[in-house]
Amino acid sequence: MKVAVLASGRGSNLQALIDEWQEGSLPVEFAGVGSDNINAQALVRAEKAGIPVRAFLRENYSDKEAQEKDILNWFEELGAELLVLAGYMRVLSPSFIRQADYPIVNIHPSLLPSFPGLHAQKQALEYGVRVSGCTVHFVDEGMDTGPIILQQAVPVFDEDNVDTLSERILKVEHEIYPEAIRLLALGKVKRQGRKVTIYRHS
Ligand code: GRF
Repeated sequence: MKVAVLASGRGSNLQALIDEWQEGSLPVEFAGVGSDNINAQALVRAEKAGIPVRAFLRENYSDKEAQEKDILNWFEELGAELLVLAGYMRVLSPSFIRQADYPIVNIHPSLLPSFPGLHAQKQALEYGVRVSGCTVHFVDEGMDTGPIILQQAVPVFDEDNVDTLSERILKVEHEIYPEAIRLLALGKVKRQGRKVTIYRHS
C-alpha cells in the first residue's frame, strides 16, 4: 500500500511509523511526506529515511484551494492509496476530501468524541476527566468526527499538567497509529458508515 503523509511539526508519530517500517513490521511503501511548514522536523525525519518530501507553504499560494490542489496533484503522481495525517495543522477542506480517492486517517490526542479540535489534552484536564487517551479515525468533513478505527485509554492523575498528560498519551499514539496503519495495509479494516470493523484474525 502506497502511503502519503502530511505533517506540520515534530513528526514523532511519523517516526514511529518509519521505525516499524524499517523493522519490517509495517507492510507499506512511504510514497512521500508533505508539509505546510518548511521547518517541520517531520521533513528531516522523512529525508533521513529516504522518503521523498515536498513543502507546500501557505505563503506560496493565493489561497488554501490552490495549496490543496498542488498537494492532491502530488499525491496522484505518487499513486497514493492512503493518506496519513501526522500532526498536520491545517484542516483539509471538504473539496480536498471529496477529491481524494483514497482513505484519509488521523490521530487525535483524546478519546473522541470528547475534546475534538486544538489543545485536546488541556481540554481534558480542564474538564476533569479521569481517563483520556488517543483515537485513530478516518477523516470526514467535520472536525475530528470521522469513523473511529482504534482508541487507547490512559489514566489522568491529580498531579498531571498538559506536558505530563501529553507525554503519556503520545506514548500510546506511537503504538496505536502503526497498528492501525498495519491493519489498513493488510485489508483488515472495513468501514460501513460510521461503523468500523476490524478483522484481526482472518
Ligand atoms: C499528536 O499529539 C497528534 O495526536 C496530533 O498532533 C500531534 C502530532 O505530534 N494530531 P507529532 O508531530 O507526531 O510528534
